[in-house]
Amino acid sequence: PASPEARDRLVLGVVGGSGLYEIEGLQEVEQIALETPFGRPSDSYTVGLLPRDGGLPPVRAVFLPRHGRGHLLLPSEINFRANVHGFKQLGVTHLLSVSAVGSLREDIAPGDVVIADQFIDRTAGRAQTFFGGGLVAHVQMGDPVDPGFSRRVAGAAAAEGARVHEGGTCIVMEGPAFSTRAESNLYRSWGAHVIGMTALPEAKLAREAEIAYAVVALATDYDCWHEVEVSVEAVIAVVKANVALSRRIIRRLAAGLPEATAELPYPRALQFATITDPARIP
Ligand code: ADE
Repeated sequence: PASPEARDRLVLGVVGGSGLYEIEGLQEVEQIALETPFGRPSDSYTVGLLPRDGGLPPVRAVFLPRHGRGHLLLPSEINFRANVHGFKQLGVTHLLSVSAVGSLREDIAPGDVVIADQFIDRTAGRAQTFFGGGLVAHVQMGDPVDPGFSRRVAGAAAAEGARVHEGGTCIVMEGPAFSTRAESNLYRSWGAHVIGMTALPEAKLAREAEIAYAVVALATDYDCWHEVEVSVEAVIAVVKANVALSRRIIRRLAAGLPEATAELPYPRALQFATITDPARIP
């Protein structure tokens, strides 16, 4: 873990979804390729500075394209543990997850932004934890996203003119094929709002790494419960617009971030985790 002094300074991480392979406005850019005990991350990290409002010094920002530049990795092929470990190595205290999702509700239209605050795990076979191998720990996941950080993301999205839905449940499915109609209707009956393929296990790993996590989910389509046919061209046009919007949201978010984590705390997840201490077992 980063030293306590290093963790006093807020460092913004951004993990980019489909179409977002770099962010704009970064100064003093460096590419950093990392190895981790869990293998190699999706790509090299882009590290730099983003301008902040109010005469404050710029904020350090760390960007990683989740699927690799050129979109080479299926959701099932992403090494989420390596990705999150790399953000931690680079001192990230707050991680924004940018994610393309399908809509499960009529009132969430393509192009809308959902600041998801709950997840339902429908992934299969993904490595979900940094623990194991003799160290048993269970972190709390009742509130999987950071509320203060999420509010700032919602504010930045609204300020950029997006139609924002604050809060919402995201189904995270394995893919890569989209859902069947029966599944899509089942998820609607569960009260879910959107569906994607990547927020888990990312959110769980961020919590284990004591990194504050927030999701900006950008709806690209209505999932297949909505029986209106959509053309591929229409979806691509929405994806392009969403990528441009997400870049603006990131810049706006960064501009308003405080310098110190004291003003926007990250979770002390391990303080509240259930951890087996082998020394105490007779
Ligand atoms: N990502 C974008 N649209 C999606 C959908 N309909 N289902 C799952 N993931 C998605």
